[in-house]
Amino acid sequence: MIPVAYNYAENFLNHIGDLSIINQYNKCVLDTPYNDVFWPRQIELHLPGNLNSACNLKCKHCSGVLFGKYRDNWEYDGLRIIEKLNGNIPFITISGSYTEPMLNPYFITFIRHIKETGANFGVHTNGSLMFNGEENYGVLSEIVKFSTNKDDYFSISIDAGTRESFSYAKRCKESIFDDICKGINILTKKRDNGPSVRVCYLMTEETSSDDDIKNIVNICKAARVDSLRFSIPFANYLLPFNVVQKHYEIKEDFYKDNFYHRVEPYLSDGDTKVFWTWPEQTSTDVFNFSKCVYGYYQATIGADGYLYRCASGATPNKRHFRIGKLDNNIDNFIKILKIGQDLSWDCKSGCFDCNIRCNKAAIDINTLYDKWSNANGL
Ligand SMILES: C[S@@+](CC[C@H](N)C(=O)[O-])C[C@H]1O[C@@H](n2cnc3c(N)ncnc32)[C@H](O)[C@@H]1O
Ligand code: SF4
Ligand code: SF4
Repeated sequence: MIPVAYNYAENFLNHIGDLSIINQYNKCVLDTPYNDVFWPRQIELHLPGNLNSACNLKCKHCSGVLFGKYRDNWEYDGLRIIEKLNGNIPFITISGSYTEPMLNPYFITFIRHIKETGANFGVHTNGSLMFNGEENYGVLSEIVKFSTNKDDYFSISIDAGTRESFSYAKRCKESIFDDICKGINILTKKRDNGPSVRVCYLMTEETSSDDDIKNIVNICKAARVDSLRFSIPFANYLLPFNVVQKHYEIKEDFYKDNFYHRVEPYLSDGDTKVFWTWPEQTSTDVFNFSKCVYGYYQATIGADGYLYRCASGATPNKRHFRIGKLDNNIDNFIKILKIGQDLSWDCKSGCFDCNIRCNKAAIDINTLYDKWSNANGL
């Protein structure tokens, strides 16, 4: 069973209540008074790395490899907006398309601000800075101090089960694998109310031997993490659709049964939920809807300080995909949210024809809305 946190359509429905709200609201989304706003469920912040580098690893599978890696110093404005939102957007995830958020000097300040407003945080990290960050600055202790419940989460992309395959997959020193494991152990030992700790493992032929799988399952269970997810990397964002489809056929469809059989003996619903997700939504066949309602679920702040329609095109390479520049003015922020919720956006010409494709969450949500609107003759 896939944990509920990964069931995006269900999370969307829980947030929105009833899909008809979108049509009622959208009749005049851009004209409504500024304070008549439909708050999305979450913000995804692409926290830039630091002034020298966007990320400290070079994962072979990194989906953001084709993104222009521009960053800007928008942290102060981001923090002010979080304060002014005052918890109205209940989840704020700190992540990246091509960045490592724990490199950013404001990382822990963001967590503190999010929790002070009563919202929940999520973090997507490669985990390499957890151990040293704790030794030098007590970063994990601070996270545990601020976290109030298990809806806060820390997701660590480990993608290997041994030092050797880790260093191959991430093009880095083997010892970083040990640092990540130590960091995970410290975090799970220290936490009380939260956060949830999730480990993600992208499987490739080179990094998924029986030893790798057995080892990572043992590490995760011994540390009592909440979940360990196995899946196959999808094609990089911004690739032409025919290349994406080829990748699906030769890397995902081709390997999926084989990889599934490798992890099957370990799948479990115990204290550490070990689960697998099939690459079902990564074929380009799924892009047969015309309306995007993803802006009712998520607002995305790119590493360059612009808001984008969604995360998979959040790069200055795709300027037409920007919906506004972040500043510390909440009225401006609300105006930008509304632009991202306007159903007149044409997904085909604005996204798919420009090699921008939805992530898994957006596919699930847009497909759900498409079925519902067809059934209701809209
Ligand atoms: C781009 S990373 C940014 C945050 C952080 N640097 C990290 O690696 O977790 C965000 C998430 O995207 C995942 N990801 C990157 N490339 C991917 C791919 N080709 N297929 C599936 N997931 C991918 C990473 O494993 C990570 O969980
Ligand atoms: S750590 Fe994250 S951002 Fe950095 S290269 Fe790997 S997947 Fe990309
Ligand atoms: S890529 Fe998908 S989620 Fe992003 S704006 Fe286009 S249709 Fe919406």
